[in-house]
Amino acid sequence: MAIQKEPTVLVIFGCMGDLTWRKLAPALYNLLLSRLLPDHFSVIGLDMKPASADAFRQRLEDGVKTFCECGDINEDTWRQFSREFVFLSGDFGSADTYKELSRQLDACEKSFARKPQVVYYLATPPDIMETIARGIGGANLCQERERTRIVVEKPFGHDLASAKELNATLTKIFEEVQIYRIDHYLGKETVQNLLAFRFANALFEPIWNRRYIDHVQITVAEKVGVEHRGAYYEHAGALRDMIQNHVMQILTLIAMEPMVSFDADEVRNKKVDVLRAIRPIREDQVADYAVRGQYGPGWIQGQKVPGYRAEPGVSPNSYIETYAALKLFVDNWRWQDVPFYLRTGKRLVERVSEVIIQFKPVPHQAFPRTAVQSWQANRLMIHIQPHEGIILEFQAKQPGIAHHLSPVKMHFSYQETFKIRSPEAYETLLMDVMAGDATLFMRADQVETSWSILAPILNEWASATPVEFPNYSAGTWGPGPAEELIARDGRSWLEPTLEEEQVKNQSSTPVQPTLVQE
Ligand code: BG6
Repeated sequence: MAIQKEPTVLVIFGCMGDLTWRKLAPALYNLLLSRLLPDHFSVIGLDMKPASADAFRQRLEDGVKTFCECGDINEDTWRQFSREFVFLSGDFGSADTYKELSRQLDACEKSFARKPQVVYYLATPPDIMETIARGIGGANLCQERERTRIVVEKPFGHDLASAKELNATLTKIFEEVQIYRIDHYLGKETVQNLLAFRFANALFEPIWNRRYIDHVQITVAEKVGVEHRGAYYEHAGALRDMIQNHVMQILTLIAMEPMVSFDADEVRNKKVDVLRAIRPIREDQVADYAVRGQYGPGWIQGQKVPGYRAEPGVSPNSYIETYAALKLFVDNWRWQDVPFYLRTGKRLVERVSEVIIQFKPVPHQAFPRTAVQSWQANRLMIHIQPHEGIILEFQAKQPGIAHHLSPVKMHFSYQETFKIRSPEAYETLLMDVMAGDATLFMRADQVETSWSILAPILNEWASATPVEFPNYSAGTWGPGPAEELIARDGRSWLEPTLEEEQVKNQSSTPVQPTLVQE
């Protein structure tokens, strides 16, 4: 990635909120330590709630201290860096707020002695985004196409209609090249590596199709519940919060055709082709293709945890899903009739995101039956988090006189191989916005196509008789019907892979000699 040194002002709307505190502040600190930020760099924070500039800087510092994995923060460095950060409190619907913002941007220009590029970061709930975009446009703060960009956080709309409306408003004010719709999964190293893995190696591409692949599983499991985000989550649910964006993005990277170049639009064209090829699900088919769940009380690591309905900000009768599983098909030459099983949920057993490519068995089994007792077709496991890496499972002959085959693992671990810290997703994405590289951001058509795939499910779930909730206990792998969804096809969810350490130990543990069978 080219290191961008253009003087920059980052304008954060919703600067006292959760996202700025948890993600943006630590990302800025890490970029500062890595010397990746431009020499002339400043932050203007805006929030509807009144606060002082000191309180804003303190909040950022607190975010760095709480969430940065960099160890003890160097307070002097941070304070020196953040000393000029500006805080503005104001109504996002009022022209005065943008007049003041304009004055502050002029002040930055003066202090830099150069015209900075301006990145407007909307770290706000979706219902205020259009108002902000209009405010920026109304104050003429975005006419310079090359110098102004807007970053729009997810969720991008609430459904297809609202996403279209938001896109329409944004594109009236900004040009598409100025709009960066963020999905932080795309900034994760392991998600970016999907492209490298698939298209920088000649080995996998020839077998990456319906001829060799039986099915694909994508799991994004979380151990945490909704935490303090009950009020937001009550309007979202797992389908909107995770599947529409993060899980769909992973699916597109697994299923897309090779790109011709690394040009942002070329990559995004190939991804949107996948979304367009997804077989539509009719509302009367939803029960066959989608399962929802909501966690009840349960145990996580020996701790009793409440059910979703007892979480703060959640209705005691809520029918919002905290778990969703889907079966999708990509109708094209490469993937026809290969099922993609997707699942995500909160309060599951482990925090683990992984993709499993299950290959078909060999066409003819030449080994004697006694040799292949623990037979398993090849499997590729791509660990997105937390133990970033890739495992390839294949059959090997166990040492010994007799022919005994068993599955073994070849393991690539990011941590062991590279021994350097991976940048957090938000660091990568902030740098990309500053560099004007939109490859890892979603285009309007991607977002809308993704919503249109889910629309029948959202409609059906909103109108159908609610299922019995809660239907899974916290600390389990989700509701029974999700098992049935895949079992109907004669398959099962594959246990997310073992902890990294266990995998290492397992692959280095000598296999005990087996008794020779007559
Ligand atoms: C966010 C969702 O986009 O992603 C959260 O709104 C979820 O509900 C989070 O917890 C998961 O992100 P990560 O990077 O921790 O997997």
